[in-house]
Amino acid sequence: MKKQTDTVRIAPLAPYLGGKFRLSKRIINRIEQIPHKIYAEPFVGMGGIFLRRTQIPKAEIINDINGELVNLYRIVRRYPNTLYKETEFLFASRQEFERQLKTPPETLTDIERAARFLYLQNQAFGGKVTGQSFGVSIDRPARFDFVKLNDRIRAVGERLASVTIERLDFEKFITRYDTKDTLFYLDPPYWGNETDYGKDIFCRSDFERLRDCLTGIKGKFILSLNDTPQVRNLFKDFIIEQVDVTYSISKTGCCNRSELIITN
Ligand SMILES: C[S@@+](CC[C@H](N)C(=O)[O-])C[C@H]1O[C@@H](n2cnc3c(N)ncnc32)[C@H](O)[C@@H]1O
Repeated sequence: MKKQTDTVRIAPLAPYLGGKFRLSKRIINRIEQIPHKIYAEPFVGMGGIFLRRTQIPKAEIINDINGELVNLYRIVRRYPNTLYKETEFLFASRQEFERQLKTPPETLTDIERAARFLYLQNQAFGGKVTGQSFGVSIDRPARFDFVKLNDRIRAVGERLASVTIERLDFEKFITRYDTKDTLFYLDPPYWGNETDYGKDIFCRSDFERLRDCLTGIKGKFILSLNDTPQVRNLFKDFIIEQVDVTYSISKTGCCNRSELIITN
């Protein structure tokens, strides 16, 4: 296998519900142990895994059904300086947050639209993507700080230079990019939280569609999901590994949850 190019870890542009921060080291170790020439991520979100991996294969393709997210990647790639300038007008205020939330994105230019998405995603409580509310902590700096975005926008823009960005339903994406040299990393919505990323984009029966679509692919896959009896049963014909993850739930407390890493 041809030696892969190395790059640096990059932090995602904003918090994102279900971003795999706590699992990222373990998932990236797995990814880097599997020889592949093509890396394909059908549910890329804010890129919590994609941006943190440091070995770049010959071809990379990322995908997400969320049009605001895909527009953000396109603008970060093409107009990083203009996007940064646009974020200078935004500030951490409840009134501004609510104004942005109410603004229909289709009334904005693509650059304003990307800045709005970046702003809301940084400022929202818990990295939520739908049902967003203004996030504030009395003892911490404001969540949205455009100065901190400057280097990140540039770094992500450069990282995306030779990456193909798609906006397809996962099944079409997997079928299109499956080859014997492809490695898919898949991070779909969790079982029980299917609608967290919007209406009518993912539903309970899509887990079965995903399982069927992964059965018999030519390439390799790594799938991460929450540990539920239904997920274990649905993917029982693959290799299932349980991993424990510690989440902090308050300043003093934390809890353990188990997640599953499923591979072929
Ligand atoms: C758990 S999040 C991915 C989080 C990502 N790993 C990160 O670090 O930010 C799941 C993603 O799947 C996307 N999604 C949901 N339904 C989809 C579908 N049918 N096809 C493609 N993407 C979909 C959502 O828009 C969301 O960004």
